Amino acid sequence: MKFFIDTADLDEIREANAMGVLDGVTTNPSLMKKAGGADFHEHIFRICEIVDGDVSAEVTAVDYDGIMEEGRTLAGIHKNVVVKVPLIMDGIKALKSFKEQGIRTNCTLCFSSTQALIAAKAGATYISPFMGRVDDISWDGLQLVEDIVEVYSNYGFETQVLAASIRHPMHVARCAQIGVDVATMPLAVISRLLKHPLTDNGLEKFLADWADYRAEGETVRP
Ligand code: E4P
Repeated sequence: MKFFIDTADLDEIREANAMGVLDGVTTNPSLMKKAGGADFHEHIFRICEIVDGDVSAEVTAVDYDGIMEEGRTLAGIHKNVVVKVPLIMDGIKALKSFKEQGIRTNCTLCFSSTQALIAAKAGATYISPFMGRVDDISWDGLQLVEDIVEVYSNYGFETQVLAASIRHPMHVARCAQIGVDVATMPLAVISRLLKHPLTDNGLEKFLADWADYRAEGETVRP
């Protein structure tokens, strides 16, 4: 399973990348607003220079021509840019055109398996089901992801399932069991994946015992 970080914050991206397990980055207009920065295209380029992997950059046009124009410009920033396209009628049309032009896409704001089916038929490179936002309205985000993986497997679609809007490590654990291709998550969730109190307690005890052993050695052993 690939790990993407879901942020536009350059420091967070550097920190996650330093762990050596980062495969890419997803951004969106809200994350761009949070990160700040004067120039969107320049910012995306800087992200691409930090991480050697796919970087999703989202269009903000909602009409076919606008999506295509923005998408072509974004794809021209760096070879690793993946154009993020909303799951609306004109977005679906654009997915097909981008595919024909060799431009890779991430179809975003997916909340149903039928939406995911259409995106795959249109040739999306990635589909992004927003599991956390589904949970937020008392539906089952994991079930949505599971349904999409099953539908894609039934028909052999090549579109990769990119689990998005991940809120906590259990989302990641269940996604790995389901077999998603990619999970994108905030830095806080990536960090929590490796934390376990028994690891911390165990290490503390080992280090204390090691210190005792060394101290005893100084008096008992030659
Ligand atoms: C995915 O690409 C989105 O940027 C993201 O996962 C949305 O997450 P949120 O629901 O936490 O805003």
